[in-house]
Amino acid sequence: MGLTFRLVITAAFAATVLGASRDTFNLKPFKIDLSEGLPHLKALVNNTWLPDQALYPAAGVDKGIELDTLRDKLRTEWVTTFDWGKQEAELNQLDHFTAEIEGQVVHFVHQKSEASDAIPVILLHGWPGSFQEFLPVIEPLTQPLFNATSGKNVSFNVVVPSLPGFVFSSPPPQNSTVDDTARIFNTLMSEVLGYSTYAVHGTDWGSGVAYSLYSSFNETVRAAHFAFLPFTPPTAQDIADNNITLSDAQKVTLQRNAEWSTIGNGYFLEQTTKPNDIGLALYDNPVGQLAWIGGKFKLWSDPRAGSPPSVLDNTAILTSVSLYYLTHSFLSSVWIYAQNPNGFHTVYTPAPTDAPLLFSQYEYNLGLWPEEYVAKVGNLVSYKATDNERLVHDFGGHFAGLDNPPALIEDIRNVANYFPGI
Ligand SMILES: *[C@@H]1O[C@H](CO)[C@@H](O)[C@H](O)[C@H]1NC(C)=O
Ligand SMILES: *[C@@H]1O[C@H](CO)[C@@H](O)[C@H](O)[C@H]1NC(C)=O
Ligand SMILES: *[C@@H]1O[C@H](CO)[C@@H](O)[C@H](O)[C@H]1NC(C)=O
Ligand SMILES: *[C@@H]1O[C@H](CO)[C@@H](O)[C@H](O)[C@H]1NC(C)=O
Ligand SMILES: *[C@@H]1O[C@H](CO)[C@@H](O)[C@H](O)[C@H]1NC(C)=O
Ligand SMILES: *[C@@H]1O[C@H](CO)[C@@H](O)[C@H](O)[C@H]1NC(C)=O
Repeated sequence: MGLTFRLVITAAFAATVLGASRDTFNLKPFKIDLSEGLPHLKALVNNTWLPDQALYPAAGVDKGIELDTLRDKLRTEWVTTFDWGKQEAELNQLDHFTAEIEGQVVHFVHQKSEASDAIPVILLHGWPGSFQEFLPVIEPLTQPLFNATSGKNVSFNVVVPSLPGFVFSSPPPQNSTVDDTARIFNTLMSEVLGYSTYAVHGTDWGSGVAYSLYSSFNETVRAAHFAFLPFTPPTAQDIADNNITLSDAQKVTLQRNAEWSTIGNGYFLEQTTKPNDIGLALYDNPVGQLAWIGGKFKLWSDPRAGSPPSVLDNTAILTSVSLYYLTHSFLSSVWIYAQNPNGFHTVYTPAPTDAPLLFSQYEYNLGLWPEEYVAKVGNLVSYKATDNERLVHDFGGHFAGLDNPPALIEDIRNVANYFPGI
């Protein structure tokens, strides 16, 4: 009788605690269904006026996306062969949820490993990406892989949130910064999902959020991997002044950064200074969003994008733009630039943490961060690439999750070699 009583109390207590947590964050399973907007999208895409021929055919991609790429390839595929329903079904194979944190709706994928000792890891995307840019790496990271040398069986519980204002996450307050996003995501990992410690991976704006998590939550964030850093990359002059010798592959990346800084950052100034102009101009203009976003996917990826190991093909680009358009989130996505005018730190200072930091450089990324620089901002334990002599992954660009998924999977799995208790 006493035993029964205690069990009843325990069950009631557990129900209260779990109930309280669910009620507090309103955690709910989520399915993507954007079919309602599809006829409008298709009609607009099909009926958009575009020139019969390029104004200046010799201008080249330096002057922005080329007409034949936009009109004959991407636009034509969007109207004819692209199957949103198929893409949506693929995205829905993942376990999606929403939660309410600090009054904001946060959408996230939470794909759990079957292993009880899986490492929790949060993967953070940027602009113009979304959770979709990690699609190829999510399921593989949940699979246990035995390392005979260490005797460890490594797998991950993978969390991929949509940044505030991106696709299914609600727009944040106007004064919100990446530090607020970091606090919200730490609540997601620690309180909503109950992970006492976890690892982070970040790229683009997601690296800003990841670095804020790494710096500000040094008890819960116990390892961080970056494919991009929220620090202004050194110029050729800085590198020379510091007597750093670059490999040929690193020189390619340095050149990409020089081009970004001189002829590639118009979108950056626009979105930082007048987000409403571009945001409203393209709000209901899917072909416009395709030109603005698709041009970045084309320019910022490996020139071999779309051929193995890259899966960053036109279908991936159209899926990404469809997500932005159909969720009406292009406007709120570009605001992240205006909300974080100092998103790139100029002074390299160490984060107050002893958690290990890992970094991977992809050859066709937009910034080069030599090891000497990365070592200044945290407890650098791994500056890794497939070919360590070249100090870069020699395939892949700004969207590593799509452009070289096997390499990114390996990079993130490497976190296990440094994550405490595993
Ligand atoms: C696109 O527009 C053309 C010309 O108006 C029309 O013939 C065609 O059926 C439309 N295609 C789709 C998929 O709506
Ligand atoms: C690794 O973990 C998986 C899932 O827990 C298990 O099925 C498998 O037997 C383990 N492998 C080894 C070598 O321990
Ligand atoms: C396996 O473990 C060893 C020893 O910890 C480590 O050096 C090696 O990098 C690991 N291999 C992989 C693929 O993580
Ligand atoms: C940001 O704006 C909100 C109102 O939306 C206000 O309550 C809050 O105090 C502001 N925060 C800062 C840091 O200014
Ligand atoms: C670079 O090398 C030059 C010549 O050896 C030396 O004078 C200078 O102090 C070095 N700079 C740094 C930052 O190490
Ligand atoms: C964590 O951050 C706090 C506040 O900045 C600092 O006092 C503490 O030393 C840090 N812990 C580690 C292990 O670096």
